[in-house]
Amino acid sequence: MGSVKNVVITGGSRGIGHATVKLFHDAGWRVFTCSSQSFDSRCTWSFGADTHIKVDLADEKKTEIAIIDLKNKLNGKLHALINNAGASPKSPNGGRLNVLSTDLEEWHRVFSLNFFAPLLMARGLRDELASVGGAVVNITSIAGSRVHPFAGAAYATSKAALTALTREMAHDFGPLGVRVNAVAPGEVETDIISIGTDQIVSNLPLRRIGQPEDVANGIFFLCSSNSSYMNGSEISINGGQDI
Ligand SMILES: NC(=O)c1ccc[n+]([C@@H]2O[C@H](COP(=O)([O-])OP(=O)(O)OC[C@H]3O[C@@H](n4cnc5c(N)ncnc54)[C@H](OP(=O)(O)O)[C@@H]3O)[C@@H](O)[C@H]2O)c1
Repeated sequence: MGSVKNVVITGGSRGIGHATVKLFHDAGWRVFTCSSQSFDSRCTWSFGADTHIKVDLADEKKTEIAIIDLKNKLNGKLHALINNAGASPKSPNGGRLNVLSTDLEEWHRVFSLNFFAPLLMARGLRDELASVGGAVVNITSIAGSRVHPFAGAAYATSKAALTALTREMAHDFGPLGVRVNAVAPGEVETDIISIGTDQIVSNLPLRRIGQPEDVANGIFFLCSSNSSYMNGSEISINGGQDI
């Protein structure tokens, strides 16, 4: 077990995170996950429930406790941290929450999950990352760089802030030997997407929606030695949506 690499993936239960869990697991990594639901017994991989932590990452105190729990499990070594958990709240009728219609409590909750949790996780696990020259990947969004027809204002600004945090972290973690990069997905087929996404997709250069595996492959690359000189980069994975 000595040479097995450890990865922590937040939000590994569904969508992009789940595809990323499967990819790392199949490549022989020991996968630790954090999300707000309990481990689902339908998941059959070998590490299973022992490596899952149930935590609401929008709650900063609970996140700090989860980090202590993770530190105890990691044995001083973390080769990759994937800050993937995120949410994009909608209005009660499913519409876009804009600057005027998002109440302050919602802004705070979105920032706690999408922005502060990645910051807390990376800082809390810095010794474990530094001890093995680990990599951090933050999952940002195309919505962080342009107004999106469905993604709300709090979500979009939290992702823009996460892009900026990636740059700052790359600068400050680099001297520790830890690389920090981001992946910015476009439209990917998960629970987060809205009705009407098919209209966007029909105009994309690739004419198809992204699959969680398309994003997982980019995340895996940023955690591998194939990206050994990449630090502070953000890779767009969006079928050409922004060209
Ligand atoms: N799909 C897209 O088109 C798209 C585009 C751009 C960016 N992204 C980003 O990609 C990332 C993954 O999104 P996805 O599309 O895969 O979404 P998803 O299918 O809705 O999955 C979200 C994941 O986050 C976890 N999560 C949500 N709230 C949480 C909380 N309070 N505490 C802990 N875990 C929480 C969920 O687990 P539990 O249910 O167990 O809590 C789930 O595993 C997000 O950061 C999202 O912003 C997605």
